[in-house]
Amino acid sequence: MNFAHDIDKKVFRTISEITTTNQQKAYIIGGFVRDLVLGRPSKDVDIVVEGSGIKLADQVAKSLNPNIKVSYFKSYGTAMFKYKNIEYEFVGARKESYNRDSRNPIVESGTIQDDQLRRDFTINALAINLNKDAFGEITDPFDGFLDIEKGLIRTPQDPQVTFSDDPLRMLRAIRFATQLNFRIDDDAYAAISKNVERLKIITQERINVELNKILLAPKPSIGFKILYDTGILAYIFPELSDLQGVEIKNEMAHKDNFFHSLRVLDNLAEMSDDLWLRWSALLHDVGKARTKRFLDGHGWTFHGHEFVGARMVPGIFKRLKLPLNQKMKYVQKLVGLHMRPIILVEDVVTDTAVRRFLFDAGDEVEDLMTLCEADITSKNHEKVQKYLNNYKIVRQKLKTVEEKDRIRNFQPPITGEMIIMAYELSPSKVIGDIKKAIKNAILDGEMSNDFDEAWDFMLEFAQNQGLKLKKTKKEVIEALSQVKPEDDR
Ligand code: CTP
Repeated sequence: MNFAHDIDKKVFRTISEITTTNQQKAYIIGGFVRDLVLGRPSKDVDIVVEGSGIKLADQVAKSLNPNIKVSYFKSYGTAMFKYKNIEYEFVGARKESYNRDSRNPIVESGTIQDDQLRRDFTINALAINLNKDAFGEITDPFDGFLDIEKGLIRTPQDPQVTFSDDPLRMLRAIRFATQLNFRIDDDAYAAISKNVERLKIITQERINVELNKILLAPKPSIGFKILYDTGILAYIFPELSDLQGVEIKNEMAHKDNFFHSLRVLDNLAEMSDDLWLRWSALLHDVGKARTKRFLDGHGWTFHGHEFVGARMVPGIFKRLKLPLNQKMKYVQKLVGLHMRPIILVEDVVTDTAVRRFLFDAGDEVEDLMTLCEADITSKNHEKVQKYLNNYKIVRQKLKTVEEKDRIRNFQPPITGEMIIMAYELSPSKVIGDIKKAIKNAILDGEMSNDFDEAWDFMLEFAQNQGLKLKKTKKEVIEALSQVKPEDDR
């Protein structure tokens, strides 16, 4: 097997020249080779050399362009530079053994074979020779090429050793199985199930990198099913594994909310690549374990699960060290509102319900609709068609109502300042009451989102509250337009 043609690039030719002159063995190794065989694009290249990776990086960079900036990671013995938007990382071939209580390796230099053996999976241990006499030839001591053909994730040595060296590799195995739709070899699978608790030495941030990669894969359920089955999910994410299970009472069963959530996630993955929308799909029913009830004469209910779920989101994000910023608020909002479009499609779709939904959903309205369409997991084809059709009607209504009333990011047509001026009030509750009454009248479709209509509505409402108008509409407008420039100064 020869890849000379695929790696016919200035960088690789330069490495080849230099290492052949130095009489050093050098190879491309790892993800780049795997992706080349798989025909997938790759943005980083790992170069392994028998000798110093740092020295080689310096020599290669200097020869390519003296202005290239090389970054050094001295404690790992690696160096890296970027060339034509691709990152090249250089490392000396090594034997490695790990300290049981941390991921930090004890490094010793070694041969290319030592280096291949210490790698995580056979498909990541493939190396392409860069030396002139064998340029482009593949070195594959563990049948990684065959494993790619078979679609198999297998460790080069006893998986117990590979995973014990670095337990993060258990998650990497699951992540690669998900991204590539590969199967994890039986021994490796068993070793993962046995070593779940070793994940305690892995930082949450590294775990999240893998979780997010699983979520962003074409079919994320593959990974979550393995996480569940190996026991990892219960260890790192019990709120999700708690959703698994079907209970039967009086011959009535509820659906398995864990597998349902995964189906929704897969559906959504076909519609959107947005990581946080995918998190929302994963978590949309997370409140169901805590709200499950059996009501005699009715059956199973999960009443209020969306609100309970939304309240659980900050705690989950905090524990998983996910960002506690707008992303978290976004997921929380989607989880909390995910039943609203469902109610809309089940009922006759009234303008009022649509307006209220637009008001509460704001900018997230599109994403909520997408989540709800993904939430249709019925096996009954007619039902699915009916719901999809109803969602089409809802989307159309959302569009018409929004064009007419601009409810999304609603700005009240009459401000508190206007009310204060018109009635010469000092700040008091009645101002809020008037604003709320105007907002509700617009959302309920009693009037349009229009200044003049809102003014008239205010006059009537305030009169009923016993308030006396002190300034006319014209006076208020004029007073405000005079105040503005001063405010702006
Ligand atoms: N590697 C390893 N054990 C790890 C991480 C990485 O043995 N815990 C080795 C593998 O040979 C891997 C290479 O280092 O191919 C590069 O790692 P990395 O860049 O993290 O992964 P890639 O395989 O390149 O894949 P991806 O870019 O999709 O993460």
